[in-house]
Amino acid sequence: MKTISVKTEGGHYQILIGHGIIGQLGRKCKGLKLGRQVVIVADESVGKLYAESISKVLVSEGFEVTTVISLGGENNKNLDGLEPIYGHLITSGVDRTGWILALGGGIIGDMAGFVAASYLRGIRYIHVPTTIVAQVDSSIGGKTGVNHSLGKNLIGAFYQPQLVFMDTDLLRSLPEGEIKAGLAEVVKHALIRDPELFEFLEIEIENVIKMQITPSQLDWLIERNAKIKVEIVSTDERESGLRAILNYGHTIGHAIEATTNYKKYRHGEAVILGALAVAHISASRGLMSARERLRHDSLWERLGIPKGLKDVDSREIFLRTRNDKKRVDGVVRYILAEAVGKVSIYDDVSEKNVIDAIRYVKETY
Ligand SMILES: NC(=O)c1ccc[n+]([C@@H]2O[C@H](COP(=O)([O-])OP(=O)(O)OC[C@H]3O[C@@H](n4cnc5c(N)ncnc54)[C@H](O)[C@@H]3O)[C@@H](O)[C@H]2O)c1
Repeated sequence: MKTISVKTEGGHYQILIGHGIIGQLGRKCKGLKLGRQVVIVADESVGKLYAESISKVLVSEGFEVTTVISLGGENNKNLDGLEPIYGHLITSGVDRTGWILALGGGIIGDMAGFVAASYLRGIRYIHVPTTIVAQVDSSIGGKTGVNHSLGKNLIGAFYQPQLVFMDTDLLRSLPEGEIKAGLAEVVKHALIRDPELFEFLEIEIENVIKMQITPSQLDWLIERNAKIKVEIVSTDERESGLRAILNYGHTIGHAIEATTNYKKYRHGEAVILGALAVAHISASRGLMSARERLRHDSLWERLGIPKGLKDVDSREIFLRTRNDKKRVDGVVRYILAEAVGKVSIYDDVSEKNVIDAIRYVKETY
């Protein structure tokens, strides 16, 4: 089992990574001196697959476990969706020593983490992330929260878990679409920070998509990505500088998701389109060589280009980019790639740059 220690202003905790380690979860939780009462929060699919076995592992260490099943999906990630979770905690008499185990992908992690941050003004929680998105991205960094009808992730809190426990075997039940969506964040990490990881993906990406890699290779992949996220969020917990580079491909990606009402594309799919668009901006400014752009675009293409952008209005996507949550003093900042492993932040990307780039992606794919 590999351990990554995370130190942020908001707290210190460990990320444990390995395959076939779920049986050790109870013992690790016991070591954290958590209270006896624990509530597992999962969505229907993950609940069916893993809640019972995880509950047994915790019960065998003397924990008192109940499970609450939350509706999955982005449409349920809102304040109303939290109501049954708060209700379960209240009716089960969970007090301040009780804790939450968030079992699932990014949606359950964000929701259960926010409940932990707010129930009785804060109880402890741990993450057992079950998607690639959650293992390499959302379970690390302490961002919790839900959507509002006027925008995504607008309500939330920075709230660090006590432990993030990643059994990579759990990823093997993921449908291919979710694997690809998660790999979009992996390709992003490689591109912004890790040329060696990029080279690995250039050789292996189809095998990763099919999960035809060994347990040790999968552990390596998750650990490498988790370390990149940890390194960035530990330096910049509240997103004042470096953390912005994690937004690569996301400004246009989020705008595409919003323009299509979060129904047409998974988040990761929209990021693929966003990454191809920003590479066009980089190349047209002469920031990225033709060779590097070819490497960039080819790897994203191998993840599969989602269809249907042609039917989405380019100007509306542009207008939505102006609502980017990460703008500074009203200016939308773009992360542009100069080469594999090297990106910079630009605050002078024009309307024409963005619309041309979206049109390029529509015409090319
Ligand atoms: N907090 C953060 O820093 C952060 C970062 C990135 C993304 N996010 C959020 O994460 C969310 C997306 O997360 P996601 O992509 O994990 O989606 P998700 O949580 O909806 O999971 C995707 C689907 O996979 C299923 N699933 C999960 N684990 C499974 C498994 N092991 N086997 C089979 N099926 C499984 C789920 O039931 C769901 O249907 C978004 O809401 C996004 O805003 C948050």
